[in-house]
Amino acid sequence: MKKCSVAITGSGAALPERRMTNFDLEKMVETSDEWIFSRTGIRERRILEEGLSNVDLSERASREALRNAGLEPEQVELILVATVTPDYPLPATACNLQARLGAFQAAAMDIAAGCSGFIYALTVADHFIRAGTYQNALVIGVEILSRIIDWEDRSTCVLFGDGAGAAVLQPVTGDRGLISFELGADGRGLESLYIPAGGVALPTSAETVQQRLHYVKMDGPEIFKFAVRVVGETLDHLLKKGELQPTDLDHLFLHQANLRIIESIRKRLKLPREKVPVNIDRYGNMSSATIPIALYEEVAAGRLKEGDLLAAVAFGAGLTWGGILMRW
Ligand code: ACO
Repeated sequence: MKKCSVAITGSGAALPERRMTNFDLEKMVETSDEWIFSRTGIRERRILEEGLSNVDLSERASREALRNAGLEPEQVELILVATVTPDYPLPATACNLQARLGAFQAAAMDIAAGCSGFIYALTVADHFIRAGTYQNALVIGVEILSRIIDWEDRSTCVLFGDGAGAAVLQPVTGDRGLISFELGADGRGLESLYIPAGGVALPTSAETVQQRLHYVKMDGPEIFKFAVRVVGETLDHLLKKGELQPTDLDHLFLHQANLRIIESIRKRLKLPREKVPVNIDRYGNMSSATIPIALYEEVAAGRLKEGDLLAAVAFGAGLTWGGILMRW
């Protein structure tokens, strides 16, 4: 039997209109544009308007991806929403999205793998399609991080933003499609990046709210060291598996958590700036949404063309990491 491969046949993105600049943040916490930009590369981020939620951005990004893939919502067979900011603790945002789209033939679930969520979800969708279980999948990376960060904690609130990116996956013939992947996790790093309260380990109470335990807590320097190590290792493994050199890559999509992490990897691999897209300056860290939005923007700008070889690598809470190698 001829092995089928699976490619992204349509992509979409949705961003809130509201911009928050570093200068806006100067008025909220003890920080400066100079500190934020020099330490992270961020200039501004988008913040979702009150009254809207995860599913509103997910729906916009999804409709665009479906349109670009030439697929009707009723034809979708699997919906995977990668998010750590679901609209409700129960049920999955994917089910809410399924109803919004009218995609009633689709199985639907969320995947919580931190900022690596989109890579994890792509890989799951790829397996379902290659196994012949589904003919297509709609994969979304979406985060509304502005609703789970502590706006009084300058060490985290300056870093994050909101956004959604979507991709339609379908079987293709020829050389296109996902070539290989690598997923990993190290649960010992749980407390490096987590929300202590609000789950069943420590249910929400007046006390947990008063202690601000329902917001993200992060050990930034620890995550920084972890990120540089796992992104480097994941890329080395992917390239080795494909018997490739870094210079064979036409594009390298890295999780947008800190420009210094992106630059250190880019320089180590000796890749020119134009091969490593950056959107952290405009959007901050949008967790699982950063890579699908970057993919969408490169397609829209005409820089990502059929036949191009790309790698995408992410890392995040869990701790988790994941990478893919793909021929566009
Ligand atoms: N403005 C001004 N000063 C600040 C701010 C701020 N917003 N935040 C922290 N500082 C201060 C600290 O208090 C500290 O002061 P001190 O030296 O007097 O104690 C000083 O700046 C240095 O703090 P560090 O945390 O050591 O700063 P660092 O250079 O490590 O940068 C940062 C912090 C940007 C968070 C960096 O560690 C980082 O990017 N880490 C990776 C984070 C990451 O990738 N997170 C997401 C991964 S998963 C996901 O994407 C959800």
